[in-house]
Amino acid sequence: MGRFELSHRVVLAPLTRCRSYGNVPQPHAALHYSQRATKSGLLIAEATSVSATAQGFPDTPGIWTQQQSSSRMGMRRSPAPTIIYRLMLSPARSTRSLDGFIQMRYGGSLENRCRFAVEVIDAIVHEIGADRVGIRLSPFTDYMDCFDSNPHVLDTYMVQQLNKHKEFLYCHMVEPHMTIVDGRMQIPHVLLPFRKAFNDTFIAAGGYDREEGNKVVIDGYTDLIAYGRLFLANLDFPKRFELDVPLNKYDRSMFYMQDPIIGYTDYPFLDDSNTE
Ligand SMILES: Cc1cc2nc3c(=O)[nH]c(=O)nc-3n(C[C@H](O)[C@H](O)[C@H](O)COP(=O)(O)O)c2cc1C
Repeated sequence: MGRFELSHRVVLAPLTRCRSYGNVPQPHAALHYSQRATKSGLLIAEATSVSATAQGFPDTPGIWTQQQSSSRMGMRRSPAPTIIYRLMLSPARSTRSLDGFIQMRYGGSLENRCRFAVEVIDAIVHEIGADRVGIRLSPFTDYMDCFDSNPHVLDTYMVQQLNKHKEFLYCHMVEPHMTIVDGRMQIPHVLLPFRKAFNDTFIAAGGYDREEGNKVVIDGYTDLIAYGRLFLANLDFPKRFELDVPLNKYDRSMFYMQDPIIGYTDYPFLDDSNTE
């Protein structure tokens, strides 16, 4: 993936866990990520807010104060894998006149609807270089009144904007919700046009397990797969994946629970002696 030599294709998806008290990353976050680290594996960190007004959940990490940035630097100094921080961006809270401005510049046409993301990407690329910037897009999301009328066209345009940056690190996309076909839950697999349109490393996510992940990588549908819930509950997920051994079950009730340990760093490791 760009200048990073990855040792496998299993990526940790971004997972908001609401354990950064006061919006400051805590030592237990370093433990959480190091538990899931493998040599040259890619971990995408949880959504990180750029301002106090950009938060969607309580106690999510921020990056708008010195204290927040310093604790983040501390995490980076630990013997770490590649962690990519996922920034949560939102335009400033709007007043009535600002609303009109935002509509005119950021609403309506295809170009306008992509403008905010494009401006942010351009600014970050300018600061740190395209080969350090990746993006996660959820074209088919329908969350809190946030959806697009034509995601295929919108996100193809968006990918074209990413391609303008040579060596853009990755484009990560989330599948639509799984659907039931012949009584079985199935992943819709609709990301191929975006994958074909994008010039660099592509990461898919959404409902994948070992079998489906292997299949789509072999088929050339994606380069890497990001796993959310399975990786959350299996600290040594890439190892279990490699050995094809049973997985711990995730406990949904603990996803956003704010305990520093329970449901966060206390999922059991694979007992090696059971796999020999
Ligand atoms: C506890 C939890 C927190 C999540 N937080 C985020 C988030 O902050 N941002 C995001 O884009 N996706 C988030 N997701 C979605 C995951 O990154 C992933 O796309 C989703 O879980 C589907 O993948 P999976 O089927 O492998 O779990 C979250 C999912 C879970 C279960």
